[in-house]
Amino acid sequence: MRIPEIIDRQRRGLELTAEAIRDLVIGYVRGEVPDYQVAAWLMAVCLRGMTPRETADLTRAMVDSGETADLGSIPGRKVDKHSTGGVGDKTTLVLAPLVAACGVPVAKMSGRGLGHTGGTLDKLQSIPGVTVSLSRDRFLAQVREIGLAVAGQTADLVPADGLLYALRDVTATVDSVPLIASSIMSKKIAGGADAIVLDVKVGSGAFMRSYEEALELARAMVRIGEEVGRPTVAVLTNMDEPLGRAVGNALEVAEAVETLSGHGPADLVELCLSLAGEMLSLVGAAGDAAEGAAAASTALRTGKALAKLEAMVRAQGGDPRDLRRPGGLPAAPVVAEVPAPEEGHVAGIDAREIGLVAMGLGAGRARKGETVDPAVGLVLRKKVGDAAKAGEPLGLVHARSAPAAEAAVRRVAAAYRVVRERVRPRPLLLARVSSRGVQNL
Ligand code: URA
Repeated sequence: MRIPEIIDRQRRGLELTAEAIRDLVIGYVRGEVPDYQVAAWLMAVCLRGMTPRETADLTRAMVDSGETADLGSIPGRKVDKHSTGGVGDKTTLVLAPLVAACGVPVAKMSGRGLGHTGGTLDKLQSIPGVTVSLSRDRFLAQVREIGLAVAGQTADLVPADGLLYALRDVTATVDSVPLIASSIMSKKIAGGADAIVLDVKVGSGAFMRSYEEALELARAMVRIGEEVGRPTVAVLTNMDEPLGRAVGNALEVAEAVETLSGHGPADLVELCLSLAGEMLSLVGAAGDAAEGAAAASTALRTGKALAKLEAMVRAQGGDPRDLRRPGGLPAAPVVAEVPAPEEGHVAGIDAREIGLVAMGLGAGRARKGETVDPAVGLVLRKKVGDAAKAGEPLGLVHARSAPAAEAAVRRVAAAYRVVRERVRPRPLLLARVSSRGVQNL
């Protein structure tokens, strides 16, 4: 089919064949289809949507645009996890070692932070000496040896996604469920895991602000997974306030280590155990998610999961002793308190604004390729539902300079909503979506 006909069918809401979608995607990657035609097609997708079959075919075409990771040399069923992105989301640093400590190999490719959300690679690289650029052979050998590796995605994996995402970014076509779902799932499928667990964030700090939008995205991704034979479960989780207390690269590593030492914040522990349960159950290492969560809890309590993180840090060039000794991780020169303006209870913390403040301090990047400051960020002493006395610190700002700290303190104070009456925090786990349907949690 000629490209203008493909665009025309999409614009009129008529279904495209798998072949037509493939011609467009592969033609684009080969440089045979120009930006302006793909941009017109993306806008038609945004306005008209895609059927589940078309979305799965788009995902397959994107996967086939490049190499796929072959994890066949690693014994056992492999499981991957993806988060749609949030603030303070250091889940992978806790979850990957937890699952590996339960005997299921984790070969994880992660991304960098962009905008107000952080990325696992930046967090890992805040540990002195740690590399996230592993050759394919080294990556596979590490997973075979210690059961765990977290590294950057190689450029030859899903090249269509890089190109399409860049075009979406400048044509106001990012915001489309089939385009987001195929973008995320193509990378997970090309990453080679047998099963996939998705953490779909909902709320002010997330891509999907409303529950309905997040549910639609979760359903679309679970359907793609089923269509391509990779069992997939999505959990919808609250991102109205940051996850845990730390926001910023080294600060989040420190919190992940505390969590693996048994002293983590309740919401982060709850999320990691729940996702670990899903992952272990999906590959048959546990009878169900509850049994998997119990196994993960044991791995946490016994220190086995912390030992896995330490083994990974060593294998990737760092010194695990840096994780726990004072001065082992980068520290910011200025630490300033954010005082509570009055006595009351925390009713809300604008997660997006907290992410933007951390970014402004240097913890994140506004454009791809910018460098990040590993040391700076925030630690929230008070979370939604906590009581605070006037003047008590709501949080701490870790900054490079006093003026940067002062500006951040003002913004963090404004991101908190403190009220007189008691507040019940919103539950963290909202719903679970699988091939069997939606279950409210
Ligand atoms: N994350 C992705 O990987 N792709 C999107 O399109 C949106 C979020």
